[in-house]
Amino acid sequence: MGLSATGTAAPDSSLIVEPRMGQDKMPLQEDGGLPDHVRRNQAAWDRWAPNWADSGRRAWAQEEPTWGIWSIPESEVHLMPANLRGLDAIELGCGTAYVSSWLAKKGARVTGIDNSEAQLKTARALQEQHGVSFPLIHCNAERVPLPDASFDLAISEYGASIWCDPHKWIPEASRLLRPGGLLVFLVNGAIFVLCMNDNEEPATSQLQRDYFGMHRFEFLDGDGSVEFHLGHGDWIRLLRSSGFEVQDLKELRPALGSYTSMPYVSLEWARRWPSEEVWIAKKRLE
Ligand SMILES: C[S@@+](CC[C@H](N)C(=O)[O-])C[C@H]1O[C@@H](n2cnc3c(N)ncnc32)[C@H](O)[C@@H]1O
Repeated sequence: MGLSATGTAAPDSSLIVEPRMGQDKMPLQEDGGLPDHVRRNQAAWDRWAPNWADSGRRAWAQEEPTWGIWSIPESEVHLMPANLRGLDAIELGCGTAYVSSWLAKKGARVTGIDNSEAQLKTARALQEQHGVSFPLIHCNAERVPLPDASFDLAISEYGASIWCDPHKWIPEASRLLRPGGLLVFLVNGAIFVLCMNDNEEPATSQLQRDYFGMHRFEFLDGDGSVEFHLGHGDWIRLLRSSGFEVQDLKELRPALGSYTSMPYVSLEWARRWPSEEVWIAKKRLE
């Protein structure tokens, strides 16, 4: 699964946000290697990165943020805090870093982290092109080389949110956030994960797999990559046990006439059931 982003608004080339910190070492597991799924996803995203450069370029140029495969405008769904000015934000699995660029343009001090050096290469080129600069760190979102309680906002749109093991990255996001900090992440809808086909044919109303036990997925057409999806109860229990209070679960419904370039879901399907959902959770005050 993945996403496309669209948009053509003019860039704000005057904006420069100074890097707050810069570390670019990929942290290893204690045994000296990356977990199997992290290594496989890194290889997959290094291969796929060139295919994502154009959509990244279009998204960087957008005036208004839009979310997910249906490009739903921020003004409709309100996924980000209304006032971002001065907030410390981290994007977990930033890819081409267009979400980070939107946060930076709205005044946040943002850091983007990603497991794929090839994706970060596109992100760096786009930073240069737009004159927008913020730290980009090559690392695994399950183990980020930054201090505890460094951020007010952690966000992921189809990044760590589906490519990392939730039992690793959710506690890590909690560690990185200050008390009262906000976690916002977009994933494929749970009901959609149950209905989607292994081969990217559009989902039907037929359930293809079990709900109970949802966790690690290796799709036939996934090129060796590994995804993670949980059921709603498992998300709630994991978030709560990691120090969060769930504030919202926004089930995204594209407007009539919406378009996606993704082959695996039709507008008709996504108008009836949530193809995407966004969890919003607040780190509990100690
Ligand atoms: C679909 S992109 C999402 C980013 C952005 N919204 C976009 O579409 O460009 C998925 C990103 O997650 C990154 N990713 C996968 N596994 C990761 C991990 N363990 N740690 C950090 N990033 C990871 C990939 O390298 C990829 O750039």
